[in-house]
Amino acid sequence: MDVELLVVDNAEEAAAATAEHVVAVARGGGSVALAGGSTPRRAYELAAAIEPDWSRCELWLGDERCVPADDERSNAGLVRRALLDRLGGPPPAFHAVRTELSPAEAAAGYHDELARAGPLALALLGLGPDGHTASLFPSAPALEERERLVVTAAPGLEPWVERVTMTIPAFAAAASVVFLAVGAEKAEAAHRAFGERPSKATPASLVRSAEGRTLAILDRAAARLH
Ligand code: 6PG
Repeated sequence: MDVELLVVDNAEEAAAATAEHVVAVARGGGSVALAGGSTPRRAYELAAAIEPDWSRCELWLGDERCVPADDERSNAGLVRRALLDRLGGPPPAFHAVRTELSPAEAAAGYHDELARAGPLALALLGLGPDGHTASLFPSAPALEERERLVVTAAPGLEPWVERVTMTIPAFAAAASVVFLAVGAEKAEAAHRAFGERPSKATPASLVRSAEGRTLAILDRAAARLH
């Protein structure tokens, strides 16, 4: 199989395992793209507690919702509250998506920044119950992108706001890709994403590190159908 699975007992253990992976890469330096949504919050809190000095790495977002930075739906806000605000040491460079611009301008700017920085060391990704990851939604035009590292995307699920998302080529270039999914409501999507053939109906099944490692960290409930 092209994805390694790490199945742990519960959501807290999944957060702890994720935190350890992210910290190990962050200590080595390079670009780390973080996931949004609600699942990774605990992993970020634990990661900040394990390692106060993230100054060797640069943080990015795999996707962002086009809302102001202080909106509670902002993925940058999540990263600030759960991780950056808790660090004791010098802060890492944080590449936020410029949501004050139009989505197209923000995506173009983020593409340029990422192209200059080079491939990601790590992409941490979530999984939606519909099989989406980052803001790569089922059968969406963004799945066809072969050149750009970042594009705009229409939302396929809540919150219903325009998105800016890294693309399959950006994630494929990452030295490692780590998915985190917990809970029974993710079990079917997890099975399709990590246990079946790649399909545009399940975007997470199309996202793999081309040369490196792809790992899915699941709790027992999310791994129920494996
Ligand atoms: C976002 C995401 C998205 C998320 C999944 C899972 O901005 O919405 O990055 O891909 O990871 O929707 O979200 P939950 O963790 O909230 O279930």
